[in-house]
Amino acid sequence: MRIFSGIQPTGRKHLGNYIGAIRQYVDGQDRGEAVYCIVDLHAITVPYDPAALRTGLYDLTALLLAAGLDPARCILFRQSDVQEHTELTWLLTSVTAIGELNRMHQFRDKSAAQRELISAGLLFYPELMAADVLAYRAGEVPVGEDQREHLELMRDVARRFNARYGEGLLVVPEARIPEVGARVMDLQDPTRKMSTTGSTADGTVHVLDEPAAIARKLRRAVTDSGTEIRRAPDKPGVTNLIDIIAVARGVAPAQVEADLAGARGYGDLKAAAAEAVTAMLAPVRERYEALRADEAALEAVLAAGAEKARALARPVLADVREAMGVGPPR
Ligand code: TYM
Repeated sequence: MRIFSGIQPTGRKHLGNYIGAIRQYVDGQDRGEAVYCIVDLHAITVPYDPAALRTGLYDLTALLLAAGLDPARCILFRQSDVQEHTELTWLLTSVTAIGELNRMHQFRDKSAAQRELISAGLLFYPELMAADVLAYRAGEVPVGEDQREHLELMRDVARRFNARYGEGLLVVPEARIPEVGARVMDLQDPTRKMSTTGSTADGTVHVLDEPAAIARKLRRAVTDSGTEIRRAPDKPGVTNLIDIIAVARGVAPAQVEADLAGARGYGDLKAAAAEAVTAMLAPVRERYEALRADEAALEAVLAAGAEKARALARPVLADVREAMGVGPPR
């Protein structure tokens, strides 16, 4: 089974990214042939600073390695190093309706938030994402809940491509969305998801926050009225904390509820969350500094990853070009 996922090199990575995605990337290395891409070309679809993009790319490479990605057991590379992604994006436009792109919720939200230029790249963002995955004939895509719609579009595009140009040319991938932690919420406003740009400062735990800061944010988390520690739709704050603890401890949410049955109130719940999350993230932070300091080593990892990624994507693109009648015949 080939597994593929992508992550943006912009902004500080938070607990939602870690629980919803990065943790799954690490597991993927034991489950199949894992291919992970740092998507710098996606990052240019909103206003950005070129120098910060480079820095952010190394930050994220070091973070992913610190979290447990092992270049001997996965392929980790930079999207723009493998030109097959951009070529396939264009080729896929032949089976994509403009209306589908226009209807994507993330496009609507991001364009509504845009004060300056709404770039064409923002509209084509899901097409590039489809190409990322389809260029590898990947079967499984670990992502958080917010990527579900993009995955559906990708599957539709793959099916339509196969129907038009030949069955079996592309693999229709499955999303792998975790049962718990697919949508980590803002600690200060648990009706909103934790995010790079939209969530509150105190409600967002960053993977590289100091343990004291992590503990402080979790101890100040907004809970709900009442004292019961159980998951319920009308208890979004408590539910969020239970889910976070469950993932950090590696147990089911029901187990966390049982463990905390004798607790004196939400203070105990928050203290348990603070302890579990600092224990999960502290080792990542400890490994990060040394890895981040050696940019030449990070660049070498990415270059070697790109070489391997290209070797996988090249034959897929050759089949696609052939089937589409693009370029010289084989
Ligand atoms: P990005 O970089 O915004 O986010 C990376 C991953 O983190 C997940 N995530 C969350 N999970 C749980 N709770 C949250 N609050 C939370 N916030 C973010 C996201 O679902 C994502 O899995 N479009 C993608 C990047 C991408 C990609 C791809 C993914 C580009 N090409 C191909 C898969 C396959 C994105 O913006 O992720």
